[in-house]
Amino acid sequence: MNPGRKGLVLAEPLLFERSKSGKGGMELPEWDVETYPTEEIPPHLLRKEEAKLPELSEPEVVRHFTRLSTYNYSLDAGFYPLGSCTMKYNPKLNDWAANLEDFTEAHPYAPYRHQQGLLELLWELKEDLKEIAGMDEVCLHPAAGSHGELLGILLIRAYHQERGDTKRTQVLIPDSAHGTNPSSAAICDLTAVTLPSGPDGLIDMAALDQLMTEKVAAIMLTNPNTCGLFETRIQEVIDLVHQRGGLVYFDGANMNALVGMARPGDMGADVLHFNVHKTFSTPHGGGGPGAGPIGLKSLLADYLPRPLLAKRGEELILDYNRPKSIGRVRSFYGNIGVLIRAWTYIRSMGPDGLVQMTGQAVLNANYIKARLEQDFHAPFGQAHCMHEVLLTDRGQKASTMDFAKGLIDRGFHPPTVYFPLVVSGALLIEPTETESKLALDAFCDAMLELKAMDAETLQASPTGAFVRRVDETLAARKPILRWKEES
Ligand SMILES: Cc1ncc(COP(=O)(O)O)c(C=O)c1O
Repeated sequence: MNPGRKGLVLAEPLLFERSKSGKGGMELPEWDVETYPTEEIPPHLLRKEEAKLPELSEPEVVRHFTRLSTYNYSLDAGFYPLGSCTMKYNPKLNDWAANLEDFTEAHPYAPYRHQQGLLELLWELKEDLKEIAGMDEVCLHPAAGSHGELLGILLIRAYHQERGDTKRTQVLIPDSAHGTNPSSAAICDLTAVTLPSGPDGLIDMAALDQLMTEKVAAIMLTNPNTCGLFETRIQEVIDLVHQRGGLVYFDGANMNALVGMARPGDMGADVLHFNVHKTFSTPHGGGGPGAGPIGLKSLLADYLPRPLLAKRGEELILDYNRPKSIGRVRSFYGNIGVLIRAWTYIRSMGPDGLVQMTGQAVLNANYIKARLEQDFHAPFGQAHCMHEVLLTDRGQKASTMDFAKGLIDRGFHPPTVYFPLVVSGALLIEPTETESKLALDAFCDAMLELKAMDAETLQASPTGAFVRRVDETLAARKPILRWKEES
């Protein structure tokens, strides 16, 4: 048990542990149908024993989850500078729109003639995303950025296969990339080949020249990259890949630095994903909810998954007649709630608002950089960063993890730690446009206070959180993912 905030103790048993046989919060009506559909279920799928579900009263369940929600840190509670994750404030207007009854009650199997309003919204979102990214087509199906990566690479693979270019089995991925990039390539049965960064943190052109052979299907690049740096040689990189027959996958997780300023499609990208839950604000984290629409150039459009949202005259339809399609990647039209929030955010901001959003996000990161770079090592020496600033623990008395834990005691969510892997002891700080100068200053002051503390005291933090330091190595090596009744 851990001492918690204000002397509290985290004494929150699992619902299973609190369960008492015979308790319940509801009563089901008597079974009043004559047939029992067991004969339609193959015997091996039938449960042999009753499911051991927890038995509790309604107030016990409500209080359990309410308590847990207060132990959590959220964007509505404070500053959340988790680099690469774009934890911006999510306007409540988005939730209002997504919760409108006409959307929440729409049945996915209803004929599309009855869903023209929803389809119109999705169509407008598609058009907006095309414009923002400079792409010819957009598909809204993927349910996360990583899912968009998977779809994008499947399209690239289909493109090469149709041309009979089956020797292209490699995907070049810079060493600063997010881990989902190589895993997406691997899931598509392609080999991820690491492309080393140069001493400036950018793609190393000599290494690219060497690795970009006729075996390469695509490069997956992130711009700005996860070091918070704009790939200044982007044009050379893309031209080289294209000249040698490869395609360009653009990881759009960092679109918060580009929207309204620069378009991946204009840079030459063939396909990109948006993390609309990040850039266009849906509360996310811990694995969802998300949406990862992809934008693409027309050379990949034939392979898009079914059904494609299309226009027939004035009517919006779902087009299933796509003979070269790679198949389906998601049921129906995508993760609707997240897509409605993205539409609401884009439309409520308007073009000027989006430009301002990007500028403010970049300005905020540079403000933190300017305030902290005398005291914290900023690798690569660039004068400016994009929407996130990379610092490290080089030269500090305490480690990156100690700073992260110390920030918790001061009421901040820590930045991303130990990522990207290209520098040791990374602290990747992404303030987003949401934050005021007051909040940025409070964060920088906290970082400087932690630096001034003696290492031993800092290493004891967090002292005011419900959960103190956990054994992360043990958790990674021997994860306990399933509750088991104590025997
Ligand atoms: C650079 C980058 N690429 C891809 C992803 C994957 O996106 P998602 O978490 O939506 O699957 C992330 C997520 O944090 C990311 O930061």
